[in-house]
Amino acid sequence: MRNSLKFLALTLVSIGLVFGGSGLAEAKKKKKKIPKKPSYVGAVKCNGSCHDPYYQAWVNSPHGKTFDLLKPGERAEAKKRVKLDPDKDYTTTPLCLRCHTTGYKQRGGFKPAGSKSKKGKDTSTPIDPEEPNKEQVGCEMCHSVAGGAQFRIVMKNTKGDFKKAETEKYGQRWDYSNVCTRCHTHKRTPFQPDVHDKYKFNFEERKKKVHQIDKYWNEDNEDQKLEKIKDRKKEEAQSEKTPLIIEDFIVKKGKLRFNKKKMPYNAKDKSFRYKK
Ligand code: HEC
Ligand code: HEC
Ligand code: HEC
Repeated sequence: MRNSLKFLALTLVSIGLVFGGSGLAEAKKKKKKIPKKPSYVGAVKCNGSCHDPYYQAWVNSPHGKTFDLLKPGERAEAKKRVKLDPDKDYTTTPLCLRCHTTGYKQRGGFKPAGSKSKKGKDTSTPIDPEEPNKEQVGCEMCHSVAGGAQFRIVMKNTKGDFKKAETEKYGQRWDYSNVCTRCHTHKRTPFQPDVHDKYKFNFEERKKKVHQIDKYWNEDNEDQKLEKIKDRKKEEAQSEKTPLIIEDFIVKKGKLRFNKKKMPYNAKDKSFRYKK
């Protein structure tokens, strides 16, 4: 009797060891590797287990619908006012795509209809009207320097318990007021503040409208609330002290071209360019 009890206990212990051990191995495997190169991944990647309320609020906000403004017939009055043709389809016009989509002309970024590889294969970004993604002004246009592929993995590994500097190292930016001018009041936007009062840009006022997440919290996504968000507000990141430069671009022969030396991320030596 005593022997069989001993045997049972031993078996239980070894089962525990085997399973516990393999559980640890599992966890180690799950720790995602940081990709070598930054690239745009799209807003949909942020939804589904990490930032669902942010995604849902974004879908229903103006930034989640910016691509649609490029379609014929949309906002005809506003277009006429700035001498744009209200009946024209601007959904493949490089200048417009720079500010109305995510990562256009950058690694992993949006590719409009008609895009082809050298071999003639269709490489255009698929668009699902039910699930807005790279075709709109997505998360990465405000949160990242060269696409969120890298810092997404930092977030996944740390589950929100990170310091600003950690994510900055991988391309996250915290110079939000600076980043808005990538588009708003930028010298290339047709919708300048002197055209209409509504194009004037007050960061503090507008910021309040960007993430109207309050009504999207529920039992299923409660666990996604960021615990360290208040602590992070007290930190001052490098990009807040010295904002990143805003990339410079021109449209040449109908193509959008970035000035490589004036990109906030220097892909060659993997460094960031801050304003002096
Ligand atoms: C430099 C960035 C930039 C470029 C380039 C740009 N836009 Fe925009 N666009 C914006 C911003 C920012 C707004 C929002 C302005 C606001 O509400 O203050 C906007 C707003 C709009 C609106 C809505 C205006 C309204 O009052 O309802 C339309 C339509 C539009 N853009 C179409 C276009 C088209 C077509 C092109 C290309 C010819 C284009 N945009 C190029 C940044 C840009
Ligand atoms: C138009 C710019 C813009 C877009 C697009 C945007 N955000 Fe933000 N986001 C901001 C700003 C600005 C803040 C800071 C808000 C504040 O401090 O009140 C912020 C804050 C956040 C925070 C809190 C970060 C922290 O720890 O302090 C999260 C999480 C977030 N955004 C997720 C997202 C996700 C997910 C998307 C896409 C679905 C997205 N954002 C799209 C501008 C943007
Ligand atoms: C990549 C370009 C881009 C960037 C970066 C950007 N926006 Fe916008 N934003 C737009 C476009 C385009 C619209 C026009 C949407 C429309 O008229 O429906 C817009 C519209 C808005 C609106 C809605 C208009 C309103 O006032 O109700 C707010 C608010 C706004 N932006 C705030 C911000 C803030 C704050 C930032 C920086 C944290 C920012 N945006 C960064 C392109 C951009």
